[in-house]
Amino acid sequence: MGRTDYSLLLAQAQAITAGEEDLIANLSNLSALVYEALEDVNWVGFYLTREPNKLVLGPFQGKVACLRIDFGKGVCGAAASTQTTQRVEDVHEFPGHIACDSASNSEVVVPLIVDGKVVGVFDLDSPSVGRFSEDDAAGLSKLGRFIETLNWSSLTHV
Ligand code: SME
Repeated sequence: MGRTDYSLLLAQAQAITAGEEDLIANLSNLSALVYEALEDVNWVGFYLTREPNKLVLGPFQGKVACLRIDFGKGVCGAAASTQTTQRVEDVHEFPGHIACDSASNSEVVVPLIVDGKVVGVFDLDSPSVGRFSEDDAAGLSKLGRFIETLNWSSLTHV
């Protein structure tokens, strides 16, 4: 499997969002960009904090997914409540994992934090156990730091 060039991906993310202020439009294109750029992924997208301590499905690529996830629940909820990137080699061994797509076996979730608050999470799933390396988690976290600089004030969140 080819390694992802995360410097290139970051540059592409910056290029496709430059000059656009609409957050949902930008997150939509970012999910499409990352879904195309990474091999062996079956879901790439965002959950957004639309009310206190609750994530609601946002723009994504992949199969129909869970609509709402409480902070603390599953991998996404763990990323939100701990404010740290979660890299899970085998989701079936993760306590409370939420199985949206039974094809998913490994996962990375990057919390998106603005002004100290989790405004959402960036979630990537793979059908392969152990798909995401430490390098992937680091590259995706760096991409998350860029996504935090987008226009989150346009979204209702807490
Ligand atoms: N598996 C995730 C739920 C979200 S879906 O994968 C799109 C979790 O446990 O957080």
